[in-house]
Amino acid sequence: MPSFDQVIERRGTACFKYDALKLFYGRDDLLALWVADMDFAVSPQIQQALANRMQHPVYGYNFKAPAFQEALGNWLFKRHGWDTSAHALTAFPSLMTALAISILSLTQKKDKILIQTPVYPPFSMSVLEHQRELLCNSLINDNGVYSIDWPDFEAKAAQCTMFILCNPHNPVGRVFTREELQRMADICKKHKVIIFSDEIHSDLIYPGQKHIPIASLAEDICLTGISPAKSFNLAGMGTAVLICKNRDLLDTVQKLNQALHTYMGNSFGLVAFTAAYGESEAWLEELLGYLHANAQLIKNEIPRILPRVTISPIEGTYLAWLDFRAYGLSELDLMNILKDRCHLALNAGSSFGKEGEGFMRLNFGCSRVILEEALQNLKLFGDGNNA
Ligand SMILES: Cc1ncc(COP(=O)(O)O)c(C=O)c1O
Repeated sequence: MPSFDQVIERRGTACFKYDALKLFYGRDDLLALWVADMDFAVSPQIQQALANRMQHPVYGYNFKAPAFQEALGNWLFKRHGWDTSAHALTAFPSLMTALAISILSLTQKKDKILIQTPVYPPFSMSVLEHQRELLCNSLINDNGVYSIDWPDFEAKAAQCTMFILCNPHNPVGRVFTREELQRMADICKKHKVIIFSDEIHSDLIYPGQKHIPIASLAEDICLTGISPAKSFNLAGMGTAVLICKNRDLLDTVQKLNQALHTYMGNSFGLVAFTAAYGESEAWLEELLGYLHANAQLIKNEIPRILPRVTISPIEGTYLAWLDFRAYGLSELDLMNILKDRCHLALNAGSSFGKEGEGFMRLNFGCSRVILEEALQNLKLFGDGNNA
């Protein structure tokens, strides 16, 4: 098993996280803790499966053999206790393609769609770009601990045709509890709201938490988006699926997926997907131990270095959500200090919604030595006064 401690040079591989630094931050001598992919090599099983496929020199259209769905079905049952044997799935080049096609096929122009902000920016973009109306149920932030504003959730859900759930939640790191999910599902059922549940981070869960697929509580109204992009570090492989028990819902989405010719996928993504869910559980377990130790390091060190920063509890994902508001800086000043003084590229909180202003998202899916260097660099932040 290769060590997650190994630092792999990614610059020059046409990777967004490193090779687009200059474009986005104006300089490229930064520690890249922004874009949500990890700096780790994928599992040896995935590497081997891809190498085997590469050996065969014909790369034509592919067919998703039963092994593809079987690998995922076995995984979901084993890891999350979710029996999907009566479900069907359809594949997409990315989870955000699945979301866009679901919005287009299941809702009408001007329909209202609910999200819980701050949240992964393409949710709002996808709603607005397709001329639907966005309703935001702002999460309640109590000293870094996020919860749901239930009266607001129900009042807004009652007006909506779709709710886009992010569980585990990017960026606030929540793994929603069974009680919360049941309540969201019950409200959506009552008001006939379709749930699009983005569960891309569902295998990145830390001790004490349990991922509950919301579809296991409300299978008739849920489409669940799943992809190995985050947990198995395969974002560049372009293979995601929607899984759903309600054939009417899935058929509607599938029809547009076929009409747009976005269902085929690529041969390597298919192989990587199958080797991830079918063969890489031991690798994931090791990864989770490593990421959890990184999260602990952040929780222990940042309060010592920047006592006015509040860190939200990291229940899942490899993303830390840091509240810098006590420093009283504008986002531009905050970004500039982190960039020019601390040599760090983090994600600006406002990109996740207005609730994120004054926050930063830090991706700790990197080797310990890089994280330690980033924490050392935070010592140069100073008191934030001389921006
Ligand atoms: C919640 C969430 N959904 C989807 C994505 C992107 O998935 P894809 O690249 O498959 O569209 C991300 C990436 O960070 C994410 O955090």
